[in-house]
Amino acid sequence: MSHTLSTSADPVRVLIVEDDPMVSSFCARLLHMKGFAVKTACNGREALDILQTHPFDLVLTDLQMPEMGGMALLRELREHYADLDAIMFTAYATVDTAREALKLGAFDYLTKPFSVDELERTVRRAVEWRRVRQERQRLSEVVALYEISQTFTSTLDTDTAVREIVELLWRRFSPAALSLSLVHPEDHELELLAHRGTPAPTLVGVRVPLRQEPGYDSLFEQHAQLINRREPVAPSHLARLVLRSNDRPVGVLDLIRTPDQPGFDSDDRTLLAICASQIAASLDNSRLYRQLKQQNLETIVALAAAIDARDPYTAGHSLQVMQYAVRLGEVVGLEHDRIEALRYGGLLHDIGKIGVPDAILLKPMYLSPEEMEIMRAHAVIGVEIVRGIKALRAVLPIIRYHHERIDGAGYPDGLSGDQIPLEARIMAIADAYDTMTSDRAYRRAMSQEEAIAELQRGRGSQWDSGLIDRFIELVQAESHTLRLPQPRAVQALRDQAAHMPNIELPRF
Ligand SMILES: [Fe+2]
Repeated sequence: MSHTLSTSADPVRVLIVEDDPMVSSFCARLLHMKGFAVKTACNGREALDILQTHPFDLVLTDLQMPEMGGMALLRELREHYADLDAIMFTAYATVDTAREALKLGAFDYLTKPFSVDELERTVRRAVEWRRVRQERQRLSEVVALYEISQTFTSTLDTDTAVREIVELLWRRFSPAALSLSLVHPEDHELELLAHRGTPAPTLVGVRVPLRQEPGYDSLFEQHAQLINRREPVAPSHLARLVLRSNDRPVGVLDLIRTPDQPGFDSDDRTLLAICASQIAASLDNSRLYRQLKQQNLETIVALAAAIDARDPYTAGHSLQVMQYAVRLGEVVGLEHDRIEALRYGGLLHDIGKIGVPDAILLKPMYLSPEEMEIMRAHAVIGVEIVRGIKALRAVLPIIRYHHERIDGAGYPDGLSGDQIPLEARIMAIADAYDTMTSDRAYRRAMSQEEAIAELQRGRGSQWDSGLIDRFIELVQAESHTLRLPQPRAVQALRDQAAHMPNIELPRF
């Protein structure tokens, strides 16, 4: 039997364990008159039996009883009912007995014979102590919940926020099932973000159209539809609320308990309401952030397409380089943020070409040394263009160093070996491979085999040997999925971007 804390409105539940019927009935009558809910047992064994089926707040127990005495009972209580308070009666009050009882977790002891006042005073003190302890416990729970919810309010990634929310609520409220849905105002849909517990998990990510009806009943109904709940749940065992942020519904949180569990009490509901505002803010922030990121990415893709479109031969180059670089980054085990930097780096590595005149950029033959210098400036110009965007800070080294060479003969800084950031070394390979395998004004595209042979020739001089090996393995295994559809028209790129997974801006 779980000993949930009784609320302040409930009478305090006391179990009197005493083999002397006179003492037992005296205590029971007195405490009953004072408003306590009382039961009696005549030894420790019987008390344990009763505790299995009835929750209590306080146990008053005699020391010496047949079958199981007070000390043995205290040991059992400490073991199995740690939340229960106990007061020991003893006719043999020695310092040692009292000390042992207190050591076993007894709140206090009363020496027989005791007066009505003594009994009442000690019980009241125990009850007061219990109330203070519960308050403190609740307060620390609220503080803990607040602190945790602050953490997920600062998490802008929806998946992480949802995982933390579900974990937190599951731990605190022990429901049999928990579900969370999110309103997508721009699509007029409700999406199931998370579902845990029984009945069997529903498909997360499913959406239903939102009905434009006043009040929240339709929102609750649509949430129930998302989780396939057909049977009604007793109100005492259902805790559901509309999550609101900026006076707008952002989702539904729904917790249920089974009939054999205790219902949600007023403390649970208050605590849930506190959490709900934090959860709503967190979900709303991450949804807006995701939307912003998507818009941001689409802008960058459009910008990259515009750069590529200046030269019909380089259409789609940036997107293809991004594809190669991201895959190579994944293969070498880069973490999420660095992969994201590669993604943006792939799209933006040649953005500095905006500053290169058409006469040079589109020249179908070899460039003069002066023209070459202007062309090479694109790495530095690119950094100047992107420098102002804080979220793209990690992309700057990729843009600046994507033409450096392992042997130090590259530009703009002539870095060599490990001085060149890993992401830039990856980008150099992705960039070169796509350039080799695409048509140019002055030559036809190389075949995959020819390009690989070229990469091998530059292994260790132009490019990082280890990365070249991994890249060659990669294109040999995945060339059909890595290559963008040909010909790469600008519109095709936009379509491609629209189908890219939700991409996160790097966090710095
Ligand atoms: Fe470049």
